Amino acid sequence: MITDSKSGNGAQISSGENVAARPNAIAVDHIVKKYGDFTAVDDVSFHVKEGEIFGLLGPNGAGKSTLIRMMTTLIPITAGTAHIAGHDVSKEPDAARRAIGVIPQALTSDLDLTVQENMNIYAKLYDVPTSKRIAAVAELLELVDLTKWKDAQTKTLSGGMRRRLEIARGLVHSPRIFFLDEPTTGLDPVSRVAVWEMLMNIKASRNLTILITTHYMDEADRLCDRIAIVDHGKLVALDTPPALKASVPGSNVIEAQFLNASADWEERLHSLINVTSVQHEGAGMYRILTGDGSRTTTELVEMAVKSGVSVKSLSVQNTSLDDVFVHYTGRQLRDELVKAMGYVMPPRPGVQP
Ligand SMILES: Nc1ncnc2c1ncn2[C@@H]1O[C@H](COP(=O)(O)OP(=O)(O)OP(=O)(O)O)[C@@H](O)[C@H]1O
Ligand SMILES: [Mg+2]
Repeated sequence: MITDSKSGNGAQISSGENVAARPNAIAVDHIVKKYGDFTAVDDVSFHVKEGEIFGLLGPNGAGKSTLIRMMTTLIPITAGTAHIAGHDVSKEPDAARRAIGVIPQALTSDLDLTVQENMNIYAKLYDVPTSKRIAAVAELLELVDLTKWKDAQTKTLSGGMRRRLEIARGLVHSPRIFFLDEPTTGLDPVSRVAVWEMLMNIKASRNLTILITTHYMDEADRLCDRIAIVDHGKLVALDTPPALKASVPGSNVIEAQFLNASADWEERLHSLINVTSVQHEGAGMYRILTGDGSRTTTELVEMAVKSGVSVKSLSVQNTSLDDVFVHYTGRQLRDELVKAMGYVMPPRPGVQP
């Protein structure tokens, strides 16, 4: 089992302060969720320090939303415990709820209300006093760059703007811990980057602890201080993005496409110097992990020339979180990503993303 002994180690947040000394904002210990005979979350443990951005990364059905629902008191825990801001969610759900803001996976803002009305309703639900509400709503709309849309009906917003509204709405009662379940799924690339930048700003300005789920590797890599990789309900790896990458044998990835490759080509690629793994991705495309990108590339090209195999394309990169995922799960996250990305929201004419 992956343990969380390195909690906070190496995660240096902005000032260079060692995060390990901070109190836990979230402590999940041996948590299990069963639906009948099916185990959706299987003995998962991790601790998130105050002020961290912590990512749960995994494919569809990995158990990310189930974990969030248990931590945020929405569904009962089958076994194990979750403490939020020091409160056991099973024993003190109201105290835990007061400390958190939650952005669920599905969009939930009311389409018939204006942006500002959606904010106000939440503020009232959370009993934010009127004197504070007006300033809080204005400040948050500014933070997510929606001030000029405050009187627009929510149904006229693009997907990215609606997501930004929901993020602002989730902060209206000044929570200390913010849970976001796939905040960028279905957004076009420009809107995704806008949401990332916004989350970084929010984190910097409000000293929030953020737990975010995603199946976008680049998002996890860029945003998160530490990442837990979840697969089939189990925690398979947990560390900072650089440490996760360093834990995979091989430091470079060569992606190459060949024409007329022989049946034993994969085996022959594997025998090249410093190569630690080879994946055939179909259509003559191979992904090769190596400890020495330039040396392996030279050998690879020489072997191809000698064997009468054409190199159609070739690129050498540093190891990515994709490789980390393959290393720990034996599968590619990207296969599942393609399905998940089936719907990409088109940009709306005349509306900024
Ligand atoms: N209410 C339920 N009853 C039975 N099974 C459930 C229920 N909710 C979730 N599951 C199952 O638990 C597993 C984990 O689901 P969960 O929604 O947590 O995955 P996820 O990682 O959030 O996936 P996605 O990326 O698609 O949102 C899945 O196999 C799902 O079918
Ligand atoms: Mg989910």
